Amino acid sequence: MAAGTVSITIDGVGCDAAAGASVLDAVLAAGIDLPHLCKDADGPALGACRTCLVEVEGGRGLPAACSTPVSDGLVVRTDTEAAVTARRGVIELTAAMRANGASAGDELTRHALAHGADAGRWAKRVNETADASNHFYSFDASDCILCGRCVSACSDRQHIG
Ligand code: FES
Repeated sequence: MAAGTVSITIDGVGCDAAAGASVLDAVLAAGIDLPHLCKDADGPALGACRTCLVEVEGGRGLPAACSTPVSDGLVVRTDTEAAVTARRGVIELTAAMRANGASAGDELTRHALAHGADAGRWAKRVNETADASNHFYSFDASDCILCGRCVSACSDRQHIG
């Protein structure tokens, strides 16, 4: 183990992770395609979408990987039935929020397919309107999944509220 790192196990495979990293950082570095819809690579963990749920040995429930720090000896499982089933349910509900439905190749659709999610089991949101009145962006609430990334970008990085 190199200085500044901790040893953890992810899905039965031992690896090193940077001290202070999140479980999500370590899982992604291990090449595992764990969903993380509200975690921007350059932003803080928001913990809003719950699509990154994993199991941590000795822990309670299914913590969000983005908000869980690594620690030496941590044992993480992304592939248990409980974790996959929970993520599938969250992904289904999230996908059902989009009145416009799936868009081929987008992050949510890719993870929905990988998890066998069926958003059609849930009623779709309707009667949302698009707002193109701003010169810098257009906002179509029909595609909003309430991940909070746009709010974080505006308030924490642009400081424009
Ligand atoms: Fe972890 Fe959204 S990425 S809760």
